[in-house]
Amino acid sequence: MDFLRDDESLIKDETPLCYDYIPKPIKYREGQQQEISYAIKPLLNGRDGGNLFVYGSPGVGKTLAVKYLFREIEFEGDNIIPIYINCWKKDTSHRIALEICKAIGYKWTHNKGTDELLKSITEILNKKSTVICLDEIDKAKDTDIIYNLCEDLNKKSIIMITNYRDWIADLDDRIRSRLVPQSLEFEAYNASEVSGILRERCNFAFVPGVLNDEAFDLVARKTCELKDIRSGLFLLKKAADEAERKSSREIKLEHAKLAIEKFSSEFKIKNAKEFGDEENSLIEIIKENSGTIKELYGIYIKKGGNKSYRTFYRKIDELLENHMIEADEKDGKARIISYGRKLTDF
Ligand SMILES: Nc1ncnc2c1ncn2[C@@H]1O[C@H](COP(=O)(O)OP(=O)(O)OP(=O)(O)O)[C@@H](O)[C@H]1O
Ligand SMILES: [Mg+2]
Repeated sequence: MDFLRDDESLIKDETPLCYDYIPKPIKYREGQQQEISYAIKPLLNGRDGGNLFVYGSPGVGKTLAVKYLFREIEFEGDNIIPIYINCWKKDTSHRIALEICKAIGYKWTHNKGTDELLKSITEILNKKSTVICLDEIDKAKDTDIIYNLCEDLNKKSIIMITNYRDWIADLDDRIRSRLVPQSLEFEAYNASEVSGILRERCNFAFVPGVLNDEAFDLVARKTCELKDIRSGLFLLKKAADEAERKSSREIKLEHAKLAIEKFSSEFKIKNAKEFGDEENSLIEIIKENSGTIKELYGIYIKKGGNKSYRTFYRKIDELLENHMIEADEKDGKARIISYGRKLTDF
């Protein structure tokens, strides 16, 4: 039998399998990209831009579409300043303001309050045009900064991204009436789109001919079920690892199946680095303990946690929605929260 040698690999380039790889062009999102372009187009002519409210389930290309556009803007020159902020990581107006300062290279931030920072930000940004993306906006603890940016910046587009269509309805009227954002939905991909996206990544990532069709089809089907392209990228990489571990020159169905088994315990939709410290310390607790939310809250408090039960509960819900942790639901009983998924779930 023809085995893979130690110095050989099935992967010619791992980058296309990474979550933050930006393909060019982005398939199946022409309509959405067009809408985003329309919103910022006035900025090119020195006028104020439109604002966008982008929503859709996890892993459907929302962040990708905006980052792609930001890269194009950077390429075009420096009349429009693109600023990307993940509000899960920067979750207060003050932290967001600091992040904007960092993005524009303003260093005199020490001991300054949010208003003071905003004053400097406005002065700098009003010399040009700005596109600000507030990704995972629902994770921001306060939204005051949106009001300020809207009021103070003369030429800007504000793009807010979230998984929740209803988020905008709960936004303070005062802010909403200033923003008047256009809503933009990213629907889940259909089966042929999922295949198209994954196939393209495979062509860039794998040595030609090493990926067996049956293995690919199984991964594509699973990805379609899960609706999140990240799960497909994870499975492809895992399947290749399994094949290499067995010194196989081909990624076969059996390797894809093994990848799916591992998926249950290892796949996490977001990179841990996308989460704040608090979420990560919660995840650590849940890695070591499973139980009802009440029980976990008890452990959290014992470990010195200081958030209210309500806040704790909300954070657990967020982690569940993002598939970072799992809940086992039995009729009429409290949910048991744990870290890993069960294999039988897939
Ligand atoms: N049309 C596409 N073509 C190629 N890759 C895509 C496409 N759509 C999504 N992806 C890939 O899927 C992964 C998830 O996309 P992205 O990060 O944009 O998801 P998202 O919609 O922002 O999800 P979340 O709400 O969880 O943040 C990324 O690795 C991205 O490159
Ligand atoms: Mg995203």
